[in-house]
Amino acid sequence: MNKFDLKTNNPIGVFDSGMGGLTVMREIMHTLPHEDIIYFGDIARLPYGTKSITTIRKFALQTAKFLIKQNVKAIVIACNTISAIAKDEVQKAAGNIPVIDVISAGSSDARHYNKIGIIATPATINSHAYPTAIYHQNPSALIVSQACALFVPMIEEGFIEHKALELIAREYLGMLIKQNINALVLGCTHYPLIKGTIMKIMGREVHIIDPAHTACRDLVKVLTNKNLLNLQKTTGSYHYFVTDIPLKFQENGERFLANKMENIELVNID
Ligand code: DGL
Repeated sequence: MNKFDLKTNNPIGVFDSGMGGLTVMREIMHTLPHEDIIYFGDIARLPYGTKSITTIRKFALQTAKFLIKQNVKAIVIACNTISAIAKDEVQKAAGNIPVIDVISAGSSDARHYNKIGIIATPATINSHAYPTAIYHQNPSALIVSQACALFVPMIEEGFIEHKALELIAREYLGMLIKQNINALVLGCTHYPLIKGTIMKIMGREVHIIDPAHTACRDLVKVLTNKNLLNLQKTTGSYHYFVTDIPLKFQENGERFLANKMENIELVNID
């Protein structure tokens, strides 16, 4: 097993295929304000959710290696697709660096319900990672899954409160409404951005689960247990690495993050 020297003042590495993981980073910034964070978004190769397992694993490993080189003390896979397809590979490369993922978090939230809907990218849905993890904890749960391939490109395009988005969302969510679910997992880190539209369509009775909260709680637990919490008194610094900077990148990114984005750096990890 790879053994890295982990120090309290090393940064936390957070990654996603694109900007979706910023919804998880936002949560971490809020809960752990003294931590330095490195964010990695593979914008040039997004979306991952419609790609093959081999490609997703290859991309995830390249990113993990990049983060390890930045001396991170923990890695947060802020992407359900990567969590579903490549978590074991990432953990293997990371050695003694703890790896937190959003599917473990989301499934542990969902286990308390009995009729659960999952919406995610096609790769996450096809992997059956959520039903497998939930059944393990609650064998009597009824689970209905729906792939929503068009959500990620629309969200990255900034179609957040848009009629076209609502039309497509009604199409995707119709089947889940018919099944009378009582909880819906946002199984893609992009989806919290369109939570308003989703809630409007699903109605108030359906509890919406955003795995980001629990993923963040898992991170706090791991850092505390390993004595790796940063003890500096100042606010942490944030550095964003991306493989492409499209038009409106910063504007959209700041919306995901609900915060200013500085220190954005273009990198090539191929
Ligand atoms: N944000 C990613 C997730 O949570 C999906 C984005 C993509 O398809 O690349 O699954």
